[in-house]
Amino acid sequence: MITSEVKIAHISDLHISGRKDRRYLNDLDRMFDHFNSVGYDHLVISGDLSNSAHPGDWKIIREKLESHDLYHWDKTTVIAGNHDLTNLEEELRFYNALNPLSLLRKKAFDRKVKEFCVFFQELITGEERGDQGFPFIKIINYSSVKIAIVALNSVYPWYPADNPLGARGSISKGQLRALSLESVLAPLADCFVIGLCHHAYKVYGTDSPIDQAFDWTMELKNREEFLEALKLMHAKLVLHGHFHRFQSYKVQNIPFINGGSFRYNPLCYSELIIEGLDNFTQRFVTLPANI
Ligand SMILES: [Fe+2]
Ligand SMILES: [Fe+2]
Repeated sequence: MITSEVKIAHISDLHISGRKDRRYLNDLDRMFDHFNSVGYDHLVISGDLSNSAHPGDWKIIREKLESHDLYHWDKTTVIAGNHDLTNLEEELRFYNALNPLSLLRKKAFDRKVKEFCVFFQELITGEERGDQGFPFIKIINYSSVKIAIVALNSVYPWYPADNPLGARGSISKGQLRALSLESVLAPLADCFVIGLCHHAYKVYGTDSPIDQAFDWTMELKNREEFLEALKLMHAKLVLHGHFHRFQSYKVQNIPFINGGSFRYNPLCYSELIIEGLDNFTQRFVTLPANI
């Protein structure tokens, strides 16, 4: 469809728990039907597809996308969340049983990231096969504007002392380095650049020690480095999830949009309308409860 604006729908944190999760799967059908009837150009899902890191849940999402003709590189972008890569119960069980070294933990984690990327390879490279991973950049040339989606993995392995709930985030040095290369930055120069990761820059808490302890378990550890990379790319905005609230905020003039949680509210999503390189609007849309 040729229009003068680019319309992007953004959802996050589905936390699907198998095929018995019928109510949410029906809600997902309804949401995808709605996206097709509005005619969105692209859909972004910013992680936590599964609730307990089961590839079976990824498969359910893939089938839902396929059945709505959304499972195409230029139609949908998907990234992993901590719940796609870490099953806390299993981590604790194996940790207690085997007391693995952190190096082994890291290797197992890297394997899981790779498994996710191989599974969704078609949405990463447009090819069915391959093992390209993070970071990845999609440049889609629409009639009115070129959009670049720069996708980073912000999920960080579970470690008992440093990441006890597996929910803290960090963007690896390698990914940040890749995004600072001139060969990467040059093609982004004439694009509307959208940063994408799972973790929030801001976790809203209060000054109370309990809230601050909670913030610590959820935070993106190297958010300042991430911000520098965003500035270097001249990112127009960032899409994320993880902190289950539908919200938008600015950090040093860069808008961050939290796609909230489909699990928490399966009727709500974020809509982004981009009209040219310097113009966009964002709003949260709630579907009527009885459609
Ligand atoms: Fe989540
Ligand atoms: Fe998360």
